[in-house]
Amino acid sequence: MPDPKRVAILISGRGSNMRALVDRACNYEVALVGSNKAEAAGVAWARDRRLQTWTRESKGIDKEEYDRLLSAALEEHQVGTIALAGFMRILSPWFVERWAGRILNIHPSLLPKYRGLDTHARAIEAGDGVAGCSVHIVTEELDAGEVLGRAEVLVEIGDTPERLAERVLAAEHRLYPQVLNEFVLR
Ligand code: GRF
Repeated sequence: MPDPKRVAILISGRGSNMRALVDRACNYEVALVGSNKAEAAGVAWARDRRLQTWTRESKGIDKEEYDRLLSAALEEHQVGTIALAGFMRILSPWFVERWAGRILNIHPSLLPKYRGLDTHARAIEAGDGVAGCSVHIVTEELDAGEVLGRAEVLVEIGDTPERLAERVLAAEHRLYPQVLNEFVLR
């Protein structure tokens, strides 16, 4: 059984949650940063930090075949827990089954509200007074696994999706490391 404290963080873009997870790691170590975008800003940051990285473009590869390559890299680095942090790919059923109960994701809404995209615009549109973010276990159904933690952010009068997103992102950076530090001890 791989050590749950050996964490891989998967990203596709700027990687601000990844940075928070790296900087606030207490009970886990970041064994690998993986990305389907070799040019992702977060990958450059991880390399600067001398973290192990794995990148492979997913374009043109069959979904499950890609996930098998990714899974092999995770095994090679003896990863026990996977933290998705802006990883813009829906994982194959094979991968989710293979890593069942060991994949976490951060989602910018108070789940079960607003699964999927455009969460902030949808919260504002609905007239919600409170928005936020959630960390959950990844299952086959999108954004539907067990919620491990939530952080609330007040919606201000005249908020735009961009302004709200900025404040929610700051809350994400606090919530995700906190939940992951607890999760690896379960
Ligand atoms: C965050 O908004 C997160 O909630 C969502 O993807 C975004 C990733 O941002 N899952 P970053 O790459 O961590 O800055």
